[in-house]
Amino acid sequence: MRTLTVSLEDRSYPIYIGEGISAGDEIYSKHLNSKKIALITNEEIADLYLSEMSQSLGSFDLKTLVLPEGESQKNLETVEKAVEFLSDNGIDRDSSIIAFGGGVIGDITGFVASSYMRGIKFLQVPTTLLAQVDSSVGGKTGVNIRQGKNLIGAFYQPSAVIADTRFLSTLQPRRFSEGLAEVIKYGLIRDHGFFEWLETNTSRILDLEAEAMAHLIEKCCQIKAEVVSEDEKESSVRAELNFGHTFGHAIESLTDYNSYSHGEAVAIGMVMATSLSESMGMISSEDKERVKKLIKAVNLPTKKPNLNGDDFFESMKRDKKTHDGEIRLILLENIGRAIITSDYPNELLMKTISD
Ligand SMILES: NC(=O)c1ccc[n+]([C@@H]2O[C@H](COP(=O)([O-])OP(=O)(O)OC[C@H]3O[C@@H](n4cnc5c(N)ncnc54)[C@H](O)[C@@H]3O)[C@@H](O)[C@H]2O)c1
Repeated sequence: MRTLTVSLEDRSYPIYIGEGISAGDEIYSKHLNSKKIALITNEEIADLYLSEMSQSLGSFDLKTLVLPEGESQKNLETVEKAVEFLSDNGIDRDSSIIAFGGGVIGDITGFVASSYMRGIKFLQVPTTLLAQVDSSVGGKTGVNIRQGKNLIGAFYQPSAVIADTRFLSTLQPRRFSEGLAEVIKYGLIRDHGFFEWLETNTSRILDLEAEAMAHLIEKCCQIKAEVVSEDEKESSVRAELNFGHTFGHAIESLTDYNSYSHGEAVAIGMVMATSLSESMGMISSEDKERVKKLIKAVNLPTKKPNLNGDDFFESMKRDKKTHDGEIRLILLENIGRAIITSDYPNELLMKTISD
C-alpha cells in the first residue's frame, strides 16, 4: 500500500492507494472514532460492492443510504434527504460518514458532512478513476442548482482517502478514459517526467495493470496534494488544475451536455489550450503533437466540434472562473509547466476557438 499526505496543518490527511486496500477494517478503525457510522453510495455501486463493504465494516453500527445514480442527484433535495437520513438514524457529532462512489457521491457526501451538525468527519472511498485522482482529494464539495454546476458548496477536507484500484475494473471504458483526461492534465501542468511515463506505459494503463495504476494514482494525488497544500482555496496556483477546463466547459455547454462527457470535453480543451500556447510561441509544435498523440492513445477526442467562435467566446466568459469578465487561461510554457495568464492576444484566442 502507498500512503501520501495532504499537508494542511490541522486539516492534513492521508491518501491510501493500492489494490484491495478497502477490504477489512484496519484503515477504517484508524480514522473512525465512533462505532456509529453512515455510508452514502448509489445503486450501481451498491449492486457491485455494498455487500463486501458492509462486511469490511461489520464491527461498526453501519447505516447506509443508497441514492439513485447520476449527476442529476447532485442537488439540494438530495442534501436534505441525506441530512434527514443521518438525523433519523442518530448520527451525531462523533460519528463519521463514508462517501463510497464516484465524484457525484463524493461531492454530495462531502457537502453533507460539512454542514450536518456544523461539520462531522468524513472519509472518501472513491470508486472511479476521476474520483481517485481528482475529486476525492482537495476538499471541494458541493451540489448543483438550476443556475449552474457546483454553485453551492464548501471547502471541507476529508479525514482520509482510500483509493482501492480494484474498483476500476468494473468501470465502463468511456468513464475510465474520462479519468485519464485529468491524469494527463497533471503531467502537462506540473510533471514532464510523469507525462513521459504515461507515454511509455499507455498499454499497461489501458490493461489496468495494478502496479501501473497504483503508480499513476500516487503521482496524480501527489501533484494535487502539492497544489492544494500551496493554495487550498484557489486564490492562486490551484487554478492550474483548470487546465483545459475553460475551453472544455464551453464545449460541454454549447453541446447541451449530451455529446461529450466532461473528461472528453476537457481533453479537447487541453488540445485547444496547447495549440494556443504553441501559437503564442511557447510550447513547440513537436510537443503539441505529443500531447495530441497521448490524448488520442487513451481513446479521448482531440478535435473541436464545429461551433461558432463568438458563441464559444461568450460561453467562456460566462465560466465561473472568469474574473470581472476577463478570461484567465491556463497555458503551457512546456510539457510540465503551466502558467495562469490574462495576457494573450485576443485574436489568437479567437483563432483557436474558431478554427
Ligand atoms: N470535488 C472536486 O474537486 C471535483 C473535481 C472533479 C469533478 N468533480 C465532480 O465529480 C463528478 C463526476 O465524477 P465521476 O466522473 O466519478 O462520475 P460519477 O460519480 O457520476 O460516476 C460515474 C459513473 O460510474 C459509476 N461507477 C462509479 N464507480 C464505479 C465502479 N467502480 N464500477 C462501475 N461503475 C461505477 C457511477 O454509478 C456513475 O454511473 C461531477 O459531479 C463533478 O462535478 C468534483
